[in-house]
Amino acid sequence: MIDFNAATRTFNLILAGSVYAFQVDGEGRLVHLAWAPRPAGATDDDVIDGRNGFKAADSVASFERQTRRDEFLTFGDVTYHEVSLKASFASLPRDLAAQEALHGPIRDVRLRYASHEVVTDAQPGLAPTHGLPTSDPSPRQTLRVTLRDTVQPFAVTLCYRLTPEHDILERWCELENSGQEAVTVEALNFAVLHLPKGATELTSVYGNWAREFTTQRERLPVGIRVIEQRGLQTGHFANPFFLANWPGQAWEECGPVYFGALAFSGSWRITAEHLASGDVRIHGGYNPFDFRLDLEPGQRHVTPAWVCGVSNAGWGGASRRLHAFTRQRVLPRAPGWSEERPVLYNSWEATYFDLSQAGQVELARKAAAIGVELFCVDDGWFGARRSDLAGLGDWVVSPEVFPGGLNPLIDEVRRLGMRFGIWVEPEMVNPDSDLYRQHPDWVLHFPSRPRTEARAQLILDFGRPEVVAYIYDALDRLISQHAIDFIKWDMNRNVTEPGSTAGQAIWRRHAAAVYAIMDRLRRAHPHLSIESCSGGGARIDLGILTRTDQFWTSDNTDAFDRIRIQEGCSLAYPAMAMEAWVTDVPNHQTGRISPLSLRFDVAMRGALGIGANLNRLSQAELDECAGYIAFYKRIRSVVQQGELYRLQRLEEYGASAVQYVLSDQREAVYSLAVRDHQIDQHRPPAVLKGLNPSATYSALDHRGQEVYRASGFELMTQGMIDDSGKGIGYSRTLHLVQVEK
Ligand code: DGJ
Repeated sequence: MIDFNAATRTFNLILAGSVYAFQVDGEGRLVHLAWAPRPAGATDDDVIDGRNGFKAADSVASFERQTRRDEFLTFGDVTYHEVSLKASFASLPRDLAAQEALHGPIRDVRLRYASHEVVTDAQPGLAPTHGLPTSDPSPRQTLRVTLRDTVQPFAVTLCYRLTPEHDILERWCELENSGQEAVTVEALNFAVLHLPKGATELTSVYGNWAREFTTQRERLPVGIRVIEQRGLQTGHFANPFFLANWPGQAWEECGPVYFGALAFSGSWRITAEHLASGDVRIHGGYNPFDFRLDLEPGQRHVTPAWVCGVSNAGWGGASRRLHAFTRQRVLPRAPGWSEERPVLYNSWEATYFDLSQAGQVELARKAAAIGVELFCVDDGWFGARRSDLAGLGDWVVSPEVFPGGLNPLIDEVRRLGMRFGIWVEPEMVNPDSDLYRQHPDWVLHFPSRPRTEARAQLILDFGRPEVVAYIYDALDRLISQHAIDFIKWDMNRNVTEPGSTAGQAIWRRHAAAVYAIMDRLRRAHPHLSIESCSGGGARIDLGILTRTDQFWTSDNTDAFDRIRIQEGCSLAYPAMAMEAWVTDVPNHQTGRISPLSLRFDVAMRGALGIGANLNRLSQAELDECAGYIAFYKRIRSVVQQGELYRLQRLEEYGASAVQYVLSDQREAVYSLAVRDHQIDQHRPPAVLKGLNPSATYSALDHRGQEVYRASGFELMTQGMIDDSGKGIGYSRTLHLVQVEK
């Protein structure tokens, strides 16, 4: 609900459990008033009415006059702190030009309130154009507040889209140049989030290839903490989300926690700014590194969204809001696919580049027999791609690998009752490819400079419309000529030499082109499902998730490492999109041996996939896999649609216990995995959450056998079955089902 008090010009954005308020002050500035969980018992009539003159105290020092909490901070008003926007004008408007000598370029924007409106179904920049609905397509309100520069013909509209049921606001801005000259934008954040003073405990993730989502929690020192990726994809080094709270006042399940996540897969930056005054501002938007946006006369620019919220239920509450929002409002619903993600088989770790028609058919038969629903052929099926040294860019089926084309394999996969998927890496080219031989100028590079290769590949210049058109046509042809249900869209290197015909706009244009190709493919092939992959988890964000169905979380498939990677990932992203495979031992990335039970128990925390070489498994092992897959199908709706509770976190217990529970409380899933354990170490039994206290639950293991029976009250007070003494590699998953007493 959006409440506007016309007398005090105060806005209240009222969400299920939180409120966000700001006011137009006497000078027409938009000043932030509050963002907080709503106190228990508050009604929709309880709002901040803007009469009490509440104003964050200014510093007494004449050196610090820039702590006012403007809803949009512009360079000009603010010069020595971070800003939302820095733009420059080449000259004054004509009527003012004669007045004084120009101190140009004029790097000064002053915005004052002009108007506001509430609209339904407004869309941020780079919103999907595939036309597919989300699970909840009901309309949403957006407040649009337009601010105009006091001198220049330039306006900024601040947008706030409300998803009240999840306490989520999507913030973005729209710039408009209505003048006769171009405006040069030098820095642009989608929005600034003003946290309460002192909310300086920051949670974020960092990583690298095979080490994604390493959680770090730190106290923000006074100064600036930058979380960023300078790249063409979201990146491994960090992921564009944060959680923040007052130190010591929030924990996994209690206390107010603020959160934000960028819906953008290009070069991004989150800047957490802790001023000496105690103010905390979290800016999110385009990375200003090598940034430039020329807004031509008459042109508008709409930024992607900075998705944010506050929860009173700790880090877990913040995660659950992001998960529910992503499940219901972000992920597309392709026709013909159920709400839940299928069990996938991917042949990458089984065969790598050693592909053959017969080998894939053999794997497909075994996969179908153990219950797999979607069979995906990975890298190596096309052109001269017999290793990672050649062939990228030539998206034609290799007759060497598939002499009769792909269709005989696809037919067999379908006959076996599975859907068919295939790997592609559309943004790349190997110099040893027909595409590169024909178009050496189609890659990112600077003339007469080296073209640095990584994994023997170069990046296509998606700033060139003809390249984007070529890649779209190649993929469209592939999908049109074959019954392909699913593509795994990969991207396997970071950018160097970002020289493009699009100039510095390539930092935005590349992601926009990826989005456009995906959207167009989904429009042309509505049944198509897409997995986002970038050397594992380097393209996971709320922007890509509006046009993909799931993501490949990490190339690290070691179950022990996965406990941590998936726990970090779960801070922001829901289990249903988090693809997790069971692979062979010794693990190909770490060499570690882990029991099959642990590999399944950890992979079943997300969208289950199998990546093991099924030809190497004994019949007994295949039967065991089949048993786990059947079990996963029984618990899948709970894992993928339920609310997640991180009952015991790895960093505290050396073990991770998580729970998923359906909103009607009839079913839950409990999952424990022990990574570290010392002799005589005793973990407390995990205390469950969100159950019906007066109901009785039967806890069934993967064989369907009851191993425990207790009331919701007991499970939420005494805790779960006591596994406290169990050692390294121990795991269990239990399906809790309500039964008669
Ligand atoms: C990186 C991906 O993350 C892997 O799963 C696999 O698809 C390879 N690329 C193939 O080259």
